[in-house]
Amino acid sequence: MTFAPRGPAQRPLTGQVALITGASRGIGRAIADTLACAGASLLLAARDAERLARFAASLRTEGHAVWHHPLDVADEESVRDFVRKGVAHFGRLNMLVNNAGIGCFGPLTDLSSEQWDRVMAVNVRGPFLLCRECIPHLRKQRPSFIVNIASVVAVKGYPNQSAYGASKHALLGMSKALAKEVHADGIRVHVLCPGGVDTDMATQARPDLERTDLIQTQEIADAVRYLVTRRGVAVIDELHLHRQSSPPWA
Ligand SMILES: NC(=O)c1ccc[n+]([C@@H]2O[C@H](COP(=O)([O-])OP(=O)(O)OC[C@H]3O[C@@H](n4cnc5c(N)ncnc54)[C@H](OP(=O)(O)O)[C@@H]3O)[C@@H](O)[C@H]2O)c1
Repeated sequence: MTFAPRGPAQRPLTGQVALITGASRGIGRAIADTLACAGASLLLAARDAERLARFAASLRTEGHAVWHHPLDVADEESVRDFVRKGVAHFGRLNMLVNNAGIGCFGPLTDLSSEQWDRVMAVNVRGPFLLCRECIPHLRKQRPSFIVNIASVVAVKGYPNQSAYGASKHALLGMSKALAKEVHADGIRVHVLCPGGVDTDMATQARPDLERTDLIQTQEIADAVRYLVTRRGVAVIDELHLHRQSSPPWA
């Protein structure tokens, strides 16, 4: 069987470099795969070094350019080091996808302050650190992109999700302010607010849900691809993604 060569229309991100956090599984893995197929070179981060290395190796086998390193996005020195080494590897940075995030579920009265601090550290401090370190590099490309993966909980309240919801409200608020701060520099800041997506996190948070009711990771990845390949899209403060037949919780 012969395949048609992948031309510029299929590979619009050729020559561009994307940094994706939480890239080893779930939504981040689908985003990485999709941006690689669109031609981007990848800087990939997650904490589990082995799982990340396995995924990076599988992408390289398919001919994609990938640099990876284990990273806890909440750790300031590690983020600084990751961005410095990653950008040096490919020589530039065109887009940052802040996808890494953790859940924290249960009644507020049962939460420990350590649980609260950890979800804030990963879901808010992490994207803040990544944005701060990447923006000087993104300013050198026009346009360039930041895509922050928030959640429907960034705009709605759900029982047993106070810490997680607070963290995603904070991420949305930070993103809205940042979008205006860096607009003149040609950096476009987008926020995705998906409902339930079929990943480990959704299984952990809502084991009662039918997987067929959940959004597929590829649908989120397609939305990211859309945003970073549209030079004309100015700023979408919030892009809400739900299945057409959304149940009431979505
Ligand atoms: N699934 C949903 O229903 C849903 C809906 C809306 C929004 N979201 C958001 O989408 C994002 C991805 O969620 P997911 O469902 O794909 O989750 P997931 O399946 O649990 O995957 C999370 C990814 O983030 C990485 N990660 C976790 N903590 C990290 C840290 N401190 N530093 C670096 N990497 C870290 C994980 O790898 P390691 O464990 O190896 O670090 C993994 O690669 C999150 O921000 C989540 O809040 C999810």
